[in-house]
Order: sequence, then C-alpha cells, then structure tokens
Amino acid sequence: MASTSPSSLGVALLGSGEMATQLALLWAAAGVPLTVWARSEERLGWLLEDVLEEHPDALVSTAGSAEEATLAAPILVPALPWGTPLAETLTALRPVLTGRTVLDISNPYEMTALGPKLAHYVPGGSAAAAVAELLPAGTGHVHAFTHVRSAALVAGAAAGAPLPYVSNAVNDDDAVAALGATGWVPVRVGGIAEAALIEASGPWDHAAGRDGLGVRSAEHARSLDLL
Ligand SMILES: NC(=O)c1ccc[n+]([C@@H]2O[C@H](COP(=O)([O-])OP(=O)(O)OC[C@H]3O[C@@H](n4cnc5c(N)ncnc54)[C@H](OP(=O)(O)O)[C@@H]3O)[C@@H](O)[C@H]2O)c1
Repeated sequence: MASTSPSSLGVALLGSGEMATQLALLWAAAGVPLTVWARSEERLGWLLEDVLEEHPDALVSTAGSAEEATLAAPILVPALPWGTPLAETLTALRPVLTGRTVLDISNPYEMTALGPKLAHYVPGGSAAAAVAELLPAGTGHVHAFTHVRSAALVAGAAAGAPLPYVSNAVNDDDAVAALGATGWVPVRVGGIAEAALIEASGPWDHAAGRDGLGVRSAEHARSLDLL
C-alpha cells in the first residue's frame, strides 16, 4: 500500500540463515522495524552484528522465542526450511497468528542427510499450499521471494526488479508494503493456488536464471509471458 510508511510496518523474522540475513539488511536499510528470533543465540548475534555494521540506525531488536517475536509485529517472516521445521513452528504459533500476516518465502526443498533436496511430492501442489493448510482463519498469507537466490536479493532491490507474489488477499496490504519497502517492485500474479508459478522449478524461477535477476522489469516479464 503506497501510503504505508516503512517505520509504521513491523516485521518479525524467524531464522538467522541466508534469507533472514539478506532480508534483514534490506528492511533495516528501509527503516522497517525488525524483531528477530533464531534458535541459535550465537547465529542470531551474528545477524544482528551484520545488520548494525551496515545500518547502525537500524530499528532491530531480538526476541527470546518465536512467539515473542511474532507478538511484536503484524507481519511474520519464517525464514526456515520448508517441511517439518516450518510446519512445526507455524503449528506452535497458531494461537497467535489470526489477524497477522505470514510472509512466506518457502520453497519445497526438504532437508536430507546430504542437504536440501527439491521435494518430489508437495501436498497441495506447492510449498505455499502446504503452508496455507497450517494457518488459522483470518491469517493473511503472502508468498514471495521464492524465485530469487538469497545472494541476489540486494542487487534485485537496487535494480527495482519485479517481485512476483501470490496471496490469499486477507490482511495483505502491510505485507505487500513490506515487500515494496525492500526496493523490489511487488506484482501480484495470483492466489495461493497459483504459488507454483513462483516457486523453485516454476516459470519465474527458470526465467530468473542462476543469478536470480533474469527478469528485469514488468515489461520484460510480459514479453516472457510471465504476466
Ligand atoms: N537460500 C535461498 O536462495 C532461498 C531463496 C528463496 C527462498 N528460500 C527459502 O527461504 C527459507 C530459508 O532458507 P535459507 O536459505 O535462509 O536457509 P538457511 O540458510 O539454511 O537458514 C535456515 C534457518 O532456519 C533455522 N532452522 C532450521 N531448522 C529449524 C527448526 N527446526 N526450528 C527453528 N529454526 C530452524 C536455521 O537455524 P540453525 O542455523 O540453527 O540451523 C537457520 O537459522 C527456506 O524455506 C527456503 O526454501 C531460500
């Protein structure tokens, strides 16, 4: 929503991995207040250090639990592996999710002993459809950043690249404003049922290419039949 200022948004970020760190840097740069929780206090500390080193005035604080972080903000970004970790975390948070929006960035990679592996069978046809099953009524669900590599997040933001998202259109204005605050330009490509369009191995992912920046503008996306 164009009228929402970044400082009136609030994002709770779960995790201290690649995506959590890059997203925290983008939102910190935009002046979006952040509350971050991660299960490893040490890695949470590293994320905080990275953010404050680049953005000393960042409005960033840490929480002692996923629930405490979630309660601190209207938008929840669980930057956790899809599958059991994400499902268990969202299930535990169900009592506090109604009225908030989950900004879901998950791709259907399952963790294996050898590392992440693209799931062959995805309940509901997409990572987001499986997440939607876990959310209580009245919870917003916006799904984005799945077609781009973490290493390309900052460059895409700087370039004002188009950011396709899908949503259930419940309470999603603030989450879409948070997407736009990063510098990426959000463009709705459908509902949660269309989430596979933007997930790993879908058409946006293929067009984004290895560097994650293969789609340069909305006009370019239209020329590729993505919009
Ligand atoms: N990496 C990408 O380029 C990319 C692009 C688009 C979307 N995504 C999606 O973004 C999400 C995060 O990916 P990532 O690459 O940032 O992963 P990552 O670097 O492996 O970070 C995952 C984070 O989740 C935490 N975690 C793992 N299991 C947990 C559990 N059971 N409970 C609580 N925390 C747990 C990890 O904690 P520890 O450090 O303690 O293990 C870590 O902080 C995934 O859903 C992925 O599909 C990733």
